[in-house]
Amino acid sequence: MQKIKVAINGYGVIGKRVADAVTLQDDMELIGVCDVVTDWRIKMAVNKKYPVFGFDHSASIKMKEAGIPVMGSLDDMLQAADIVIDCTPKKIAAQNIPKYRMMRKKFIVQGGEKHETTGHSFSAENNYETALGRESTRVVSCNTTSIVRTLTALKNTGLLKKARGTLLRRATDPWESHLNGIMNTLVPEKDIPSHQGPDAQTIDPSLDVITVAIKVPETLSHLHYWNVQLTRHASKDEVLQALANSTRIAMINYSNGLSANNTVKELMLEMGRPYGDMYEVALWQDMLKVQGDELFYAYIVDNQAIVIPETIDAIRSLTAIEPDAEKSIKKTNESLGIKTEFI
Ligand SMILES: NC(=O)c1ccc[n+]([C@@H]2O[C@H](COP(=O)([O-])OP(=O)(O)OC[C@H]3O[C@@H](n4cnc5c(N)ncnc54)[C@H](O)[C@@H]3O)[C@@H](O)[C@H]2O)c1
Repeated sequence: MQKIKVAINGYGVIGKRVADAVTLQDDMELIGVCDVVTDWRIKMAVNKKYPVFGFDHSASIKMKEAGIPVMGSLDDMLQAADIVIDCTPKKIAAQNIPKYRMMRKKFIVQGGEKHETTGHSFSAENNYETALGRESTRVVSCNTTSIVRTLTALKNTGLLKKARGTLLRRATDPWESHLNGIMNTLVPEKDIPSHQGPDAQTIDPSLDVITVAIKVPETLSHLHYWNVQLTRHASKDEVLQALANSTRIAMINYSNGLSANNTVKELMLEMGRPYGDMYEVALWQDMLKVQGDELFYAYIVDNQAIVIPETIDAIRSLTAIEPDAEKSIKKTNESLGIKTEFI
């Protein structure tokens, strides 16, 4: 089988996870990872035997001085690749796009970039087919991915009328929590709606969704509360069956002791997930409540992990190596051990 040659630009929180996930796919080959740093972060890529490239000449020289075997520049890495996944920080990826286009490489950007950078936003269970063979797409942010995943499941069974969500957002990523992040405060986003609702509509304009968001002083994950207006009176069982349409929502229960995000993180670590990652939306089944035609629920989003399976599917869609969304999703789920129930 011909393998898709994948390059990763930006080996940070998302880039290193995408790189690891690519190596687990039998239809993909990791060509290399590119960055500007010279410390433990990129040295770990060397330890994993990933070919390392320097963003430009100056980055390559600094890397060599730090003892990192540099295989070449970003251009060299791109030359050898079919597709590049840009996981550089917000707004830097947009600056790299002219290069990708000039070199006629397919590319994926992450949620920090605007929809307009590619003109297409991606969420596997909603719109895999619309990205087939395209030049580029944007895998939406962690929060938006969870919103589209859950609401698509409800929509596809005809139950969704409109949805209103309150998002409690983690302050910063764990590895850099000594550098920034809030403490002993709650920081509400000034604008209503917060950007995630409109962002979900870049994937599916038919979603009637409004979000508000609050930054909270912890680093493990986001937590969402949703109030959904259903199209009709429904039972809790019907709603659970609808949510089971998604292969990437896992039910959790208070009755199992999973009553907070730290307990779920501990479960992921004990399950042996790399970095303790949770690719699924973990939704509390025993908290979920239906009252007439109104639905209430809450779930946890592992911001560092949820976009990884989506990115793998986006690679298959853009390169058209797998035209069938369901087959790609199944393959990705199996490779990463994604479940609809943890325990
Ligand atoms: N961290 C999250 O929870 C999260 C979740 C979903 C989506 N995203 C999105 O993913 C993207 C990457 O975020 P992240 O959290 O992984 O960032 P990060 O800061 O952890 O990693 C970015 C990496 O890119 C490198 N870099 C910086 N400038 C570069 C350049 N010019 N060329 C090559 N490499 C360069 C940095 O050294 C770093 O290693 C952003 O769009 C972000 O919004 C992040």
